[in-house]
Amino acid sequence: MTKPLGTPLSPAATRVMLLGSGELGKEVLIALQRLGVETIAVDRYENAPGQQVAHHARTITMSDPAQLRALIEAERPDLVVPEIEAIATPVLEALESEGLVRCIPTARAARLTMDREGIRRLAAETLGLPTSPYRFCDSFEALQAAIDGGIGYPCVVKPVMSSSGKGQSKIDGPADVRKAWDYAMAGGRVGPGRIIVEGFIDFDYEITQLTVRALGADGQVQTHFCDPIGHVQVSGDYVESWQPHPMSPVALEKSREIARAITADLGGQGLFGVELFVKGDQVWFSEVSPRPHDTGMVTMATQWQNEFELHARAILGLPVDTSLKSPGASAVIYGGVDATGIVFDGVAEALAVPHSELRLFGKPESFTKRRMGVALVHDADVEHARAQAKLAASRVKPRQA
Ligand SMILES: Nc1ncnc2c1ncn2[C@@H]1O[C@H](COP(=O)(O)OP(=O)(O)OP(=O)(O)O)[C@@H](O)[C@H]1O
Ligand SMILES: [Mg+2]
Repeated sequence: MTKPLGTPLSPAATRVMLLGSGELGKEVLIALQRLGVETIAVDRYENAPGQQVAHHARTITMSDPAQLRALIEAERPDLVVPEIEAIATPVLEALESEGLVRCIPTARAARLTMDREGIRRLAAETLGLPTSPYRFCDSFEALQAAIDGGIGYPCVVKPVMSSSGKGQSKIDGPADVRKAWDYAMAGGRVGPGRIIVEGFIDFDYEITQLTVRALGADGQVQTHFCDPIGHVQVSGDYVESWQPHPMSPVALEKSREIARAITADLGGQGLFGVELFVKGDQVWFSEVSPRPHDTGMVTMATQWQNEFELHARAILGLPVDTSLKSPGASAVIYGGVDATGIVFDGVAEALAVPHSELRLFGKPESFTKRRMGVALVHDADVEHARAQAKLAASRVKPRQA
């Protein structure tokens, strides 16, 4: 930002619009609020978590180009910060090139990362980063041909437009191909369409390398790295994470080289979540979020500046500190029921776990597999922290009111 931070709700205000106001956006909004930024929380439904803590709440279909353009033109925020992928990103690119708005980190980064094809081709073909072998397919026949032609078994099928494991499945042999295709067709974000098929990487572990591009004292962008975050995914969705994850010096160095390369190409300022697979000293790039990452919620217990504060500072042009405060872990609390306005039993018991904290996101509607909260624990021993975070999460019992 070239202008100084202002006073919210005054003509001098610094105004930031979040496109997507879920649990990650909510924490970014809180971090911005603490710096006196005027916040506008946008989501597709009312009373989304971030809308509950922002100065202004707006509800639109963000994938609709006309609605998105009209809202940004009406509000004229200093910064537009995407929190989700399902956004009409060509509108952001147009508004950015018209000089009407600055998009975080860049409108191009938002477009490339909303589509597995954009980011994979950039990483593997343009930047030459190591990835799983992959092919893009538009039909069942093309998928079968890609597998037979070199991808082989086992492999993973994902709609090109999807997140949190939606429509994603593993194929162990020829009998699974049809089922994986049908599942991907049902799970994509924009209806039936294109998929990526990837060779299965038999990794030892996977990490998120949080990477921050922030201005240094000289006004130039510098790249900062957080300690690696280990995580467990079930059906493509994160269930627990911890920091730091022990790594060999070679694997750590390679991870950071990859993270530096992909984030430098995407450009701009902000925090990125670079997802990597590791086997011994070998590292593969998987994908990248140009925004805080769900597995990075652990940093609310482990870093002096959590990933949301780092994002807020970086996008405002302020200095950052990525250092670890304590090892720790996070464990997801799922809804467990399909109901609106649920209540949470067991919160006191959960918080009786030493060094624990909870975030209950305040989502108006619960689904069995919807992430409704997270338990956080810090402890000198990261394995102990993992066990304690899972214990705390398990004590929270969401139920119908
Ligand atoms: N090629 C692969 N080999 C092995 N495991 C994989 C592969 N691709 C994906 N996975 C597993 O599935 C998880 C989810 O995959 P991916 O990150 O591509 O999907 P996603 O829907 O974007 O998930 P999220 O939104 O939670 O990051 C990975 O974190 C990893 O555990
Ligand atoms: Mg992922």
